[in-house]
Amino acid sequence: MKIKAGFLQFQPVFGDIGQNISTIREMLNDKEFDLMVLPELCTTGYQFVSRDEALSLSEPAEGALGPALQELAERKSSVIVAGFAEKNGNEVFNSAMAMGPDGVLSVYRKAHLFFKEKDIFRPGNTPFEPVDTKQGYRLGTMICFDWIFPEAARSLALGGASVIAHSANLVLPWCQQAMFARALENRIFIITANRFGTEDRDPASPLTFTGGSQIMAPDGEVLAKAGPAEAVVMIREIDLNASNPQLNPMNHLFNDCRPDLYRL
Ligand code: ACM
Repeated sequence: MKIKAGFLQFQPVFGDIGQNISTIREMLNDKEFDLMVLPELCTTGYQFVSRDEALSLSEPAEGALGPALQELAERKSSVIVAGFAEKNGNEVFNSAMAMGPDGVLSVYRKAHLFFKEKDIFRPGNTPFEPVDTKQGYRLGTMICFDWIFPEAARSLALGGASVIAHSANLVLPWCQQAMFARALENRIFIITANRFGTEDRDPASPLTFTGGSQIMAPDGEVLAKAGPAEAVVMIREIDLNASNPQLNPMNHLFNDCRPDLYRL
């Protein structure tokens, strides 16, 4: 089956949830898509200086972002995946919700926290389990640094995902290239939605985000690629039938695994 899938790349304004939601709305207003992926922490920005600050800017999925995404998802008959700081009681998770026309499909909480995120967020406690989009395919979600753990994408592929929504705020230079292997070894589409710009709220560790959002096909072809510092939405028609672990008549990428020989 063919769907129109894409990403939105932009530079959130730190701490201004209303402004960031307005920007997202404006950028998507005239676009047509079935699946749209937004960056990690797209409503708040990234570099919280304390857990209390993150808590004060965090919201549950039903907060300001959820209804805004649902309105868009309903109008476009689409699924939108967006990263946000998720408030859960007195804890904050670095999460991504998948929103459909009828409401929240899933909330994934980032499992692998990067660097000083460990001082801010609670580590995720949701499994790498894809969700049924009700549009005829299964969708996996992962967040940024999850990319460096091949088990994350593999688990989503084993769960029947044909496409992974990868919300990111990338600072290391390797992910975009590494997704070539993640896509190829699982024969799956991966849409990485990154942000750009610099945040230096912690003067000891200023962070520059790398842009370069992309749509990677199961054969490793880059179907769309954003520049390192542009606000842009890119959408491509992708054929989800190409996501198939049967590499050739004699090799199935999951069934040929040899867990008896692996150290896991
Ligand atoms: C990251 O995981 N946001 C680098």
